[in-house]
Amino acid sequence: MVTAKSARVRQYLMCRPAYFTVEYAINPWMDTTTPVDTERAVDQWENLVSVLRGHGHTVHELRPEAGLPDMVFAANGGFVVDDAVYGAKFRFPQRQAEAAAHEKWYRDAEWTFTTPTETNEGEGDFAYVPGPGLILAGYGFRTDPRGHAEAGESLKRPVISLKLTDPRFYHLDTALTVLDDDTIAYYPHAFSLSSQAVLRQLFPDAVVADEADAMAFGLNTVSDDRHVYINTEATGMADKLAARGYEPIAVDLSELKKGGGSVKCCIAELRG
Ligand code: ARG
Repeated sequence: MVTAKSARVRQYLMCRPAYFTVEYAINPWMDTTTPVDTERAVDQWENLVSVLRGHGHTVHELRPEAGLPDMVFAANGGFVVDDAVYGAKFRFPQRQAEAAAHEKWYRDAEWTFTTPTETNEGEGDFAYVPGPGLILAGYGFRTDPRGHAEAGESLKRPVISLKLTDPRFYHLDTALTVLDDDTIAYYPHAFSLSSQAVLRQLFPDAVVADEADAMAFGLNTVSDDRHVYINTEATGMADKLAARGYEPIAVDLSELKKGGGSVKCCIAELRG
């Protein structure tokens, strides 16, 4: 018998996809010849926001900027643990201007902010496991491992570096998600053999996803300890989560998938 889990309300930072398009390709999901329906992207995003608010969570909005089509992926703009923020420094020039918009938002809201010197893409490549107080950090495609050490020092937490090896899962948050204080879900084959061994050792009770789950963006989820907000296509992953006592809440983000992102990419968690 799995016992029902209790949700804890959260604060999130999100950015409306008002200028979302796919006009450059910096990950294998992006195809500049596929038409994008920006209005539909906005509708899907608004639905996600209202689902989150409907569950009692607070959503703060970062103002979108013309010319920054990927700004909707707000998770990449920083990484917050206990009131402290480690800022982002994007790998590709097309996204670099996003970092300043995030920095300004956090500084205006009076968060303790560290401007990074190393390349890192915020919560795209960083996850926090509250129970052990551990930062999990991905590298291989975007974030420089030197950024892992810098994040650890800024946020005063130990960091476990994990190597991503499959270009389809170019950010940690496409291959691994934190479900509650001590539990993660991940797709092992997105990681190097040594990183798989680290994850097996640290998280023997993890929910293990398969390739279809990861391809449906079933790991690009956000959890409030009970509800797991998950892309509608990820039905197999939703079943695995339900079997473990979580309540999957399906949201359709098919337009944003054309940019290589889903639920988690849209949401930066403000852990205050
Ligand atoms: N097009 C964006 C990029 O390639 C997608 C970012 C997705 N965000 C995420 N947290 N995985 O940078």
